[in-house]
Amino acid sequence: MADIDQNRHPFLDGLSKHRGSPPTVIVIFGASGDLTARKLVPAIYNLGYDNLLPADFRLVGFGRREIPDDAFRTMARDAVKEFSRRELNEDIWDKVGRSTFYTAGGYDDAAAFDRLKKRIEGLEKDLGRKLQSLFYISTPPSVFEPILQNLGRSGLAARHLGTRQMSKVVIEKPFGRDLESARRLNQVISGVFREDQVYRIDHYLGKETVQDLLVQRFANSIFEPLMNRRYVDCVQITVAEDIGVGSRGSYYEQSGATRDMIQNHTMQLLSLMAMEPPVSLDPESIRDEKVKLLKAVEPLNLSPEHGDVVRAQYADGLVSGQAVPGYTRESSVESESNTETYAALRVSINNWRWAGVPFYLRSGKRMARRVSEIAIIFKRPPGSLFSDSEQFHLAQNSLAFQIQPDEGSTVVLNAKIPGLETRTQPVRMHFRYSTTFGSNTPEAYERLVLDAMVGDSTLFIRGDETEASWKLITPLHEFWSSVGRRGMETYAGGSWGPLAAERLLWENGHEWRRP
Ligand code: NDP
Ligand code: BG6
Repeated sequence: MADIDQNRHPFLDGLSKHRGSPPTVIVIFGASGDLTARKLVPAIYNLGYDNLLPADFRLVGFGRREIPDDAFRTMARDAVKEFSRRELNEDIWDKVGRSTFYTAGGYDDAAAFDRLKKRIEGLEKDLGRKLQSLFYISTPPSVFEPILQNLGRSGLAARHLGTRQMSKVVIEKPFGRDLESARRLNQVISGVFREDQVYRIDHYLGKETVQDLLVQRFANSIFEPLMNRRYVDCVQITVAEDIGVGSRGSYYEQSGATRDMIQNHTMQLLSLMAMEPPVSLDPESIRDEKVKLLKAVEPLNLSPEHGDVVRAQYADGLVSGQAVPGYTRESSVESESNTETYAALRVSINNWRWAGVPFYLRSGKRMARRVSEIAIIFKRPPGSLFSDSEQFHLAQNSLAFQIQPDEGSTVVLNAKIPGLETRTQPVRMHFRYSTTFGSNTPEAYERLVLDAMVGDSTLFIRGDETEASWKLITPLHEFWSSVGRRGMETYAGGSWGPLAAERLLWENGHEWRRP
């Protein structure tokens, strides 16, 4: 089919042979939910499109609602139509759709898990071969634990253990809401699964540009020698969104920016950006380095005066010329809410490479625009051959990795303006993914679902990693719950955040880069 070939991404041409997965059944818990429709089903469809699903593939949705197989197939097809990055191709959908089923039951209902087991055994019988079961937990976190316990009790977790078809479990975020609950969840998981069966998701790790960070840092010899306290003035990690909380008010009230974004996505970016080179690309070597880095982060100074943290809530404002309501006017949000929609942190890493270099992290909803980037700001050159003046307009050198939406990297240099006298101005060198590789790159969930099927845990988070990250963030929440709204700043919807976050940098003689 010509249209399929034209749409195949160039990355497939060089895909190594070992990326094949054993015959697999993916079971999605919470299959009638938002994530399943927006991300998981489209990801599975696109893997089918690229011929990356195993020849013997089955998808089973699981949830409390009674949904006949056919109705679930229709829901899944509609989801592909609405959310897939590629248009629905009926021939391809046909194959995926024919492999799709649904089983109803409660997440704490032991009999329902026995039925699920029978269903999987039935699929194996029909196919005449063993299937790997990939259990994808895509429910609210309140039912993670009963699902895990039932996977253990029913024997589903231990199916085909020690073979290529052994069961695996993918666990969505949030992974706990503090250090204690994360530890507890890890204990429940390890009571049921071996660590090599467990895939804790942070979808930022599935983003092309986040994976590219390792390549940029360690496959190029020009950057790495500069990545240390001798040359780097500060590092700024921004994960900004222009959307508000929308219909997710009740989830967000329990979460806030630090639990929703900082503890996971932003800390992952920090650890990949700052970790030491791993001894190899195998998952454990990379995760060892990330954990080492997180353990070297100093506890945050929580003092209201000159502390390391700023939190804020968006107020009424304008985004792209449209009036938008403040956070406390959003639906399902308390009018006196203490939930932060923005957080900025000044992080110090106490190791030989980074001691004395501030890492600034910020994330917020309803900011000026949607942009995620890591910017490394270099120190000014020594001496005063060229000093900033009317004649020499100079910028600090910087290297920014643009995670999204305009994926790529940018280096800022100073250059001479052509002419008969020496005048300078900062210039930018850009690398853009879309220009070099085209724009139809796989979505994060495609890579992550494929990796979990194949058994590659590099882009998933290990248990000790989640705990190391919660260890840094939990004291912050404890402090905030002890002081109520005290210290809560506001910022206009559509702005770059509160003034207090600017002050956080001014104290060190820095300012936020405008991404
Ligand atoms: P939903 O709120 O849509 O819930 C998913 C399904 O779980 C529902 O369709 C429902 O299925 C079941 N469910 C809902 N509430 C409860 C409850 N209180 N008790 C038991 N079952 C319930 O969640 P999402 O799909 O949005 O998210 C799923 C997971 O993915 C969550 O952990 C979320 O944090 C994470 N996530 C979601 C993202 C998103 O954009 N949606 C982004 C990143 C992570 P049924 O009634 O049929 O059992
Ligand atoms: C999710 C958060 O993990 O990430 C959401 O729960 C947020 O609040 C989303 O909107 C952002 O992801 P992305 O891929 O759009 O940057």
